[in-house]
Formats: sequence, C-alpha cells, structure tokens
Amino acid sequence: MHLLVLGGTWFVGHAIVKAAIDAGWEVTTFNRGTSDPFLEAARPVRGDRTRSEDIARLAAAGSWDAVVDTSGYVPANTLAVARALAPVSGYYVFMSSVSVYQDWPAKPLSEHSDVLYCSQDASPDYVTDTEDGPTQYGYQRPEARQRRSLRS
Ligand SMILES: NC(=O)c1ccc[n+]([C@@H]2O[C@H](COP(=O)([O-])OP(=O)(O)OC[C@H]3O[C@@H](n4cnc5c(N)ncnc54)[C@H](OP(=O)(O)O)[C@@H]3O)[C@@H](O)[C@H]2O)c1
Repeated sequence: MHLLVLGGTWFVGHAIVKAAIDAGWEVTTFNRGTSDPFLEAARPVRGDRTRSEDIARLAAAGSWDAVVDTSGYVPANTLAVARALAPVSGYYVFMSSVSVYQDWPAKPLSEHSDVLYCSQDASPDYVTDTEDGPTQYGYQRPEARQRRSLRS
C-alpha cells in the first residue's frame, strides 16, 4: 500500500503517518518543512500546496493507492490539488471538521445534518466569522460532504 499524506508532520496527519508505517505501508509526506518532526520511515517531499509548480513536482513523484489531505483549508486550493493528483491516486480522502455543520455547536448533530454552503472556487476571504455562529473556517470545509468528479 502506497499512501500520500498532504501534511503529515502535525497532529492528525502525523498520527495517520505513524499508523500507516506501523502497518507496513510505504508513506510519502508533503509539506513545506516548517513543522517537525517528520517520521524517518516516511519519504518527505517538500513544497507548498498553494504553488502549482510544487504540486506538479509532487504528482511526478507518484503514484499512490490513496491520498489523505489533512491540510486543505481553502476550497479552490483543495480542488486544484485533488485534480492535479487524480491521475496518480486511487482514492482521495479529505479530512474535514465538525465546524462544517450549520447547527454546530448549538444543536445535536448527525452525519446527515445540513452543512454550510460554499462554492468550490471560493477564495480565502469567502465569508467572515459570526459571533456564536458559523465561522469562515467552517464555511470553507464542506468539500468533504460533496462528491465530485476530479477529472472534469
Ligand atoms: N488541530 C485541531 O485541533 C483540529 C480540530 C478539529 C479538526 N481539525 C481538522 O483536522 C485536520 C488536520 O488538522 P491538523 O491540525 O492535524 O493539521 P493542519 O494544521 O491542518 O496541517 C498541518 C500540516 O500541513 C502542512 N501544511 C500546512 N500548510 C501547508 C502548505 N501551504 N503547503 C504544504 N503543506 C502545508 C504542515 O507542514 P508545514 O508547516 O511543514 O508545511 C503540517 O504537516 C484539518 O482538516 C483540521 O481542520 C483539527
């Protein structure tokens, strides 16, 4: 199993990389190199996901059975990265946040609760935080609930 983790040096991404290595998988990590530690058994590729030339260089280092994206925070960038990696990836797993739900944190939620709307080409300044309500962070994460063709 060949896994690519976009991130992989911090918090959730780091835990995913460690679990995959422990399971005997071959793991590539992609990040700028500003955060440590990375795990020695992982193959690091350095770059910035907001730079198309860095993403093209990453794609050329493939292929992978699956990609786990823990560092996509802006819809337009998340979609661009996913499309660039689609030809060299079997699956693309995007890690979202509970903040995507419209009623968070006021009401009980299930996986079927309504999510905040955000267009797929939204830029980093799409909407602003509201007091005791939805946040810009939450608005920009619903990618995970929307299945799309990455090749179109
Ligand atoms: N942390 C929390 O408390 C929390 C709570 C709820 C949900 N979540 C969700 O869980 C997911 C993972 O969060 P996280 O805190 O583990 O990680 P994160 O902060 O989302 O991502 C950090 C990783 O991404 C890399 N990275 C950041 N910007 C980059 C860029 N422009 N280009 C390339 N790599 C970049 C960092 O390495 P470099 O700095 O070296 O580039 C690092 O490896 C996210 O979806 C987050 O919304 C997190």
